[in-house]
Amino acid sequence: MGYFLLFPTIFLVFPLVSGLTSSGLVQPNFNASYNAFIGNNGTFLFSRNNTFRAAIFSPGAQKSFYLCVIHAESNTIIWSANRDAPISESGTVSLTSKGLTIADEDGKIRWSTPPLKSSVSALLLTDFGNLVLHDRSNASLWESFHYPTDTIVIGQHLPVGASLSSAVSDDDLSSGDYKLTITTSDAFLQWKGQTYWKLSMDTKAFVNANYAAEYMAINGTGLYLFGNNESVVVIEVFLPLSDFPIAQLGTSGMFTVSSYTSDNWLQEFSGPDDDCGIPFICGPIGFCKYDSSSSNPICSCPSGFHGGLQNTSGCLPSDGSYSLPVSCNSTNKGSRSDPSAFSYLWLGNGSGYFSNSFSQPVKYGVNVSFCKNLCSMDCSCLGIFYGNSSGSCYVLENELGSIMSVDPTDTNLAGFIKVLGGSSTTNFSGTTSVSGQRQAVPVAALVLLPFVGFFLLVALGFLFWKRCGLSKSKEKISGRCNSRSSEDLEAFYISGLPKRFDYDELELATDKFKTQIGSGGFGAVYKGTLPDKTVVAIKKINNLGVQGRKEFCTEIAVIGNIHHVNLVRLKGFCAQGRQRLLVYEYMNRGSLDRTLFGSGSILEWHQRFDIALGTARGLAYLHSGCEHKIIHCDVKPENILLDDNLQVKISDFGLSKLLTPEQSGLFTTMRGTRGYLAPEWLTNSAISEKTDVYSFGMVLLELVSGRKNCLLQSQSHSIDDSASGGGGQSTTSSGSGLVYYPLFALEMHEQKKYLELADPRLQGRTTREEVEKLVRVALCCLHEEPALRPNMVSVVGMLEGGIPVVQPIIESLNFLRFYGRRFTEASTVLERNDGSTSFPLANASRSTSDLHNGFSYISSQQISGPR
Ligand SMILES: *[C@@H]1O[C@H](CO)[C@@H](O)[C@H](O)[C@H]1NC(C)=O
Ligand SMILES: *[C@@H]1O[C@H](CO)[C@@H](O)[C@H](O)[C@H]1NC(C)=O
Ligand SMILES: *[C@@H]1O[C@H](CO)[C@@H](O)[C@H](O)[C@H]1NC(C)=O
Ligand SMILES: *[C@@H]1O[C@H](CO)[C@@H](O)[C@H](O)[C@H]1NC(C)=O
Ligand SMILES: *[C@@H]1O[C@H](CO)[C@@H](O)[C@H](O)[C@H]1NC(C)=O
Ligand SMILES: *[C@@H]1O[C@H](CO)[C@@H](O)[C@H](O)[C@H]1NC(C)=O
Ligand SMILES: *[C@@H]1O[C@H](CO)[C@@H](O)[C@H](O)[C@H]1NC(C)=O
Ligand SMILES: *[C@@H]1O[C@H](CO)[C@@H](O)[C@H](O)[C@H]1NC(C)=O
Ligand SMILES: *[C@@H]1O[C@H](CO)[C@@H](O)[C@H](O)[C@H]1NC(C)=O
Ligand SMILES: *[C@@H]1O[C@H](CO)[C@@H](O)[C@H](O)[C@H]1NC(C)=O
Ligand SMILES: *[C@@H]1O[C@H](CO)[C@@H](O)[C@H](O)[C@H]1NC(C)=O
Repeated sequence: MGYFLLFPTIFLVFPLVSGLTSSGLVQPNFNASYNAFIGNNGTFLFSRNNTFRAAIFSPGAQKSFYLCVIHAESNTIIWSANRDAPISESGTVSLTSKGLTIADEDGKIRWSTPPLKSSVSALLLTDFGNLVLHDRSNASLWESFHYPTDTIVIGQHLPVGASLSSAVSDDDLSSGDYKLTITTSDAFLQWKGQTYWKLSMDTKAFVNANYAAEYMAINGTGLYLFGNNESVVVIEVFLPLSDFPIAQLGTSGMFTVSSYTSDNWLQEFSGPDDDCGIPFICGPIGFCKYDSSSSNPICSCPSGFHGGLQNTSGCLPSDGSYSLPVSCNSTNKGSRSDPSAFSYLWLGNGSGYFSNSFSQPVKYGVNVSFCKNLCSMDCSCLGIFYGNSSGSCYVLENELGSIMSVDPTDTNLAGFIKVLGGSSTTNFSGTTSVSGQRQAVPVAALVLLPFVGFFLLVALGFLFWKRCGLSKSKEKISGRCNSRSSEDLEAFYISGLPKRFDYDELELATDKFKTQIGSGGFGAVYKGTLPDKTVVAIKKINNLGVQGRKEFCTEIAVIGNIHHVNLVRLKGFCAQGRQRLLVYEYMNRGSLDRTLFGSGSILEWHQRFDIALGTARGLAYLHSGCEHKIIHCDVKPENILLDDNLQVKISDFGLSKLLTPEQSGLFTTMRGTRGYLAPEWLTNSAISEKTDVYSFGMVLLELVSGRKNCLLQSQSHSIDDSASGGGGQSTTSSGSGLVYYPLFALEMHEQKKYLELADPRLQGRTTREEVEKLVRVALCCLHEEPALRPNMVSVVGMLEGGIPVVQPIIESLNFLRFYGRRFTEASTVLERNDGSTSFPLANASRSTSDLHNGFSYISSQQISGPR
């Protein structure tokens, strides 16, 4: 004890005796300043094993001193106390029984620990780099780990609600403009409140569980979002094994995980993975393009703009008569200008904006002049991005960031910067360049229109093949995809390829394909048992002989690399000779159609809700969570598998890309057995992820009703039973006894009689509010106009409750009335017949199941004819 009492004095007198500092603690009535510890470079405390030091340190030349925790070997600051209030070289850090305070040389307190529960008996620096105040019983009173700055290290938790904030520069540790924030489902990077990166959407992140996260942490093998007290990994990023990794939000806004080995920092992970994804990399309106030869971002100005003094000071309109308006906010209302005083400068082809992928448009389905007008009315709006195909209007608010370079041939998205003025006195030639810019979009649209239309028509036959599924994987190396058959001996390497099986192995596993458990558009599915006793589902793909094995393997590598708790895992494949087989994890409960429509025990309401949410999450991940956007194209209960805990696993995603263009005709046939196809399959509109949203809406309605959307009344739970309380017969229940349920849902929505829609087998074990929620979300998903359908991320938000459920737009649902009529008419004419064909109305004979399944497009078949 005596030793510890003496310690501070000894320390002050002999600051150079570093052996003492290694005790890892100091006790109260201790003062330190940089000047007093100058011989030690300001260091007054080492952790026990000298990994970390606590120092009064100035990172730059300008003598601003901070109390820092520093990784000794690499000289890396992992924490600073007074980041926003630096002191001079003679400012003091004092430890008293009340806590730590930092005062400048004038004695003014610049920083202190909050009031503590009991008096301090020691200040410790742990071997993990945590600065801790202990009381007499060694209980922690305060820890620097609970007040993170811009870095987390092993052992530190960044809890939900907490954030890291970047330093202004390497010399100035004060809080900069970038923030990393943890929520219960994700980690976000934001710049002035605008999101520019999400961990869950990073290609290296695996979403493991739909569980509320509690904190972010790193260890030697990865970066994690943990839930349920570390027992659940919600999201993980696997990293190479390292002794000392740190996760840091850099001054530029890049979040990185680096590891220190042999005098070097090695960057293992970065988000965003491309520098041009950083909001302010080239200053306001600076145009960032990634140069692959130097692997550096290059800043320039969009056409019509010229550079400021330095490359990061951004760009200004080239025409000096234009000026950029100043944004207003709640505290500074700004002078309201006349909306007509503004004009808009086009940013040119190939312009994108960092926040577009992370924010919702403020409006859908409007024209560009409407969008500009919206911006002109709003003094905080500084520019817009307009998505032509969906009529989406994105506004850039408060502060302009840099412009990202995107594919210049994709002219769908156009960016405009709001400007003031444009002198009326300028003569014609003086403004041509700018007005030419401004007119370029409509002119381009006019010129392009015939080409676009023509292309659409030509492309239609290949639409599914082209639009659906995956784009080609760019990665290479690792994973062997070769064949033992002599027909081609070439072996090639493709990254991330799952396990390759021999045909014989799979034949053995399935006992010569004995137990068929399903069949789909791509072929039959068999149950099998691998030698290690794992039960698997093996899909034997038909009709794929044309596609080369290398192409097949490339696609398989992409599918095999998709990890999400709501997507079924591809465990392996076989590509031997003409055989193509896929090996999936086996789902005990089979597919949703069996559980939902089957005669076994019924699904309770909360289970249906969880299935809806799980399906929505899986689709949201396919649409926006992985490197290549994947449109499922075949969302239906048969493809929604359930595990023992009724956890959803969507199957069959990405398979459309396994077809060659020649085989795309197969889809034409397959469409005949589908019941969830959006109207745009039949009109000539483009297929997009919104096509999946429509199918999801159909599935949602089936979850509510517990029956197929189109079903003979006699085969179903009588709709009249459930509707009887509501009185008035709906037009859906026609004399034929057939009900088109989506139309019934629309009508009950209009009459606010939601409970009539619920599965009668539930016998009231649900609430009106919950049914209303699902039905409203479902109807929004069914909007005829794809742009009016919410995206899957919003659907997840609505189901979770984070986003309010919007009102369905009746005008965009009126097509259901037409479908409903066609449905009942058609059904009365055609008798049951099991010699099924794919094109119901093109043939006199058809099965009722085809009628039911394929119904939603019957009317359009007649309009456009089979293709
Ligand atoms: C520490 O500094 C404070 C003023 O900054 C002074 O009041 C106190 O006596 C000093 N303590 C020691 C042990 O030097
Ligand atoms: C102090 O810092 C200088 C430069 O960073 C370094 O050369 C010197 O070794 C350090 N001295 C001590 C005692 O750590
Ligand atoms: C210091 O202790 C930490 C935590 O126990 C350990 O991870 C690290 O390897 C140690 N460093 C040295 C140099 O012994
Ligand atoms: C507090 O910790 C020190 C050193 O780690 C130890 O010697 C001491 O016994 C502890 N005291 C209590 C009350 O646990
Ligand atoms: C890191 O944490 C994960 C998840 O808890 C664990 O599986 C892994 O083994 C840990 N790695 C190390 C090096 O401790
Ligand atoms: C979390 O786990 C730790 C140790 O594993 C335990 O001490 C603590 O009580 C747990 N907390 C909760 C809330 O379960
Ligand atoms: C900015 O300019 C400097 C020198 O002119 C150059 O070294 C740097 O790479 C440029 N930065 C960007 C992002 O282009
Ligand atoms: C409002 O804008 C002014 C300057 O444009 C800025 O100084 C202030 O911080 C802003 N206030 C808020 C709440 O964003
Ligand atoms: C844009 O839409 C608005 C209403 O939404 C309409 O009044 C206006 O005429 C449209 N402008 C053009 C150029 O189509
Ligand atoms: C923009 O792209 C379109 C189509 O690719 C092209 O016709 C037009 O000339 C381009 N405009 C400019 C200014 O490059
Ligand atoms: C914009 O969309 C309209 C209708 O959606 C289309 O006719 C036009 O060709 C599109 N223009 C461009 C440039 O893509």
